[in-house]
Amino acid sequence: MAAEVKLGAASDLSKGSVTGAGRYAVGHGDDYFAVTRRCRHLRADLAGGSIDTDGCLVCPWHQSKYDVTTGRMVRGPQGVFAKVPGLGAMFKGLTAILPLGRGRVSERDGDLYVT
Ligand code: FES
Repeated sequence: MAAEVKLGAASDLSKGSVTGAGRYAVGHGDDYFAVTRRCRHLRADLAGGSIDTDGCLVCPWHQSKYDVTTGRMVRGPQGVFAKVPGLGAMFKGLTAILPLGRGRVSERDGDLYVT
């Protein structure tokens, strides 16, 4: 059984914010989510990312987007990396096979826990 990590008060994770808890980036989008925190591109810490209007987690370094329900990249790295032919498709394909891990976020007595 996976170890449970106490994140803290649910009221401290406001809607639209992301933070780190152990190996997970935990966010509050449409619902709470937890995904493993290393971006598949160059391993940026996704706990420093943001949530866009689609509810996707956006990497803080090159703005790849992840569907937090599947762990799959839905938009490849942006900026100069967006100009590299096939790079975005390659990472999207990679995460179809090797998506970000997903944790489970639960709330008890006003606190959040991740397993
Ligand atoms: S490290 Fe995440 S998009 Fe580059």
